[in-house]
Parts: sequence; C-alpha cells; structure tokens
Amino acid sequence: MVVLISGAGSNLRAIARACAEQRWPARIAAVLSNRADAPGLRFAAEHSIPTEVLDHRAAGSREAYDAELARRIDRHAPAAVVLAGFMRVLTADFVRHYEGRLINVHPSLLPAFPGLHTHRRALEAGVKWHGATVHLVSPEVDAGPIVDQAVVPVLDDDTEQSLAERVLEQEHRIFPPAVRALLEGRLQVRGRCVRVLPAGPSA
Ligand code: GRF
Repeated sequence: MVVLISGAGSNLRAIARACAEQRWPARIAAVLSNRADAPGLRFAAEHSIPTEVLDHRAAGSREAYDAELARRIDRHAPAAVVLAGFMRVLTADFVRHYEGRLINVHPSLLPAFPGLHTHRRALEAGVKWHGATVHLVSPEVDAGPIVDQAVVPVLDDDTEQSLAERVLEQEHRIFPPAVRALLEGRLQVRGRCVRVLPAGPSA
C-alpha cells in the first residue's frame, strides 16, 4: 500500500503497527506527503519506509499535482492507497483512477460534517454523539461508501481539542482493520453499501 499524509501521521503509525504486529500479507511501500514538515515523515523514515514529498505549492494546477502524485504512487503498483490525514481535495480523475482501492478516514460521523473543522462544527451544532468514519473515496468529497464508523459521546465540557483526541483514538481503532479488509479483498460494495466480509481463520 501507499499511504498519503499531511501531518502528524498518527493514523499512519496505527496502520504500520497493525501491519507488523498482525503480520498482514502487505507492506507500506511508500509514504507520500504534500508537506515537507509533516511529522509523520520522520516516523516513516525511522521505520525504513521510503518517503517522498510532493509540495502542492509548486504545482501549476490541481490537475497537474494529482497527475504527478498518481505517477509517483503507480510506481509502487499498490493494492491500496490510504489517505491518512491527507488534507487535500483530490480531482475526480485521480479518484476514478484508484476506484475501489482508495480509502480515507474522516473525523466525523458521515454524512454529518463533511469537510474541515468537524469537531468545532459538532460542538457548535450541539450534537451529543460524534465520531469517525472510514470510507472508500468517491469523487464527491467525504461521500464515498462507508466501511466503518465509531461513535464517541460529546461531553458538556468538551473543547475542540478534547473531542478531537477522543475521536482520533477511535480512528486508530477502526482504520487499520478497514485497510486490512480492503487489502484482503473483503469489502463487498453494492451501491453505497459496504459489507465487510469476515477475516480468514489465521487473522
Ligand atoms: C485525523 O483526524 C484525520 O481524520 C484527519 O486528519 C487527522 C490526521 O491525523 N483527516 P494524523 O495525521 O493521522 O495524526
């Protein structure tokens, strides 16, 4: 798999750990970041995972950026492309190219709160429950078929930060098994609905 990041890379770490500890029949071939200062790059380098930076500010257009990104990803011929905190909207061409093998984690219970600042918006909306969603990526942002979700309570004294931490913990719990199911061909997609088939006996 190829993992795309923009920031801390805690989801990358969760996936790398699960992949190693559970002996997935897979490996992270490369970590690509659009930001040279993404802390997740250091984790990858420390674990001998090849890294590449493709700075979006140097690209002439979104199309040109995504074409170059795809070119670099395709060198690895990955079975899965994992968006682990990759903070860029991808072009429809890019998404179509990876249809069925492009997976994302989003910090809200989709379809509620697509896009940015999900925790702030959840607090403002006064919802009592919030959470995380793993979904296959479709051209429309944060709207692809849902693979898994996790729910957390919103507490009276929550701040954006405390809520984000509680949600992130759940991302780390649900994202790795979803990526594994994708890699093992256990996601059965019918329209918007995904059935996750059980893992084999050795899992
Ligand atoms: C996560 O909350 C993810 O859902 C969002 O950005 C954050 C990335 O965290 N898109 P990390 O880089 O995996 O620590």
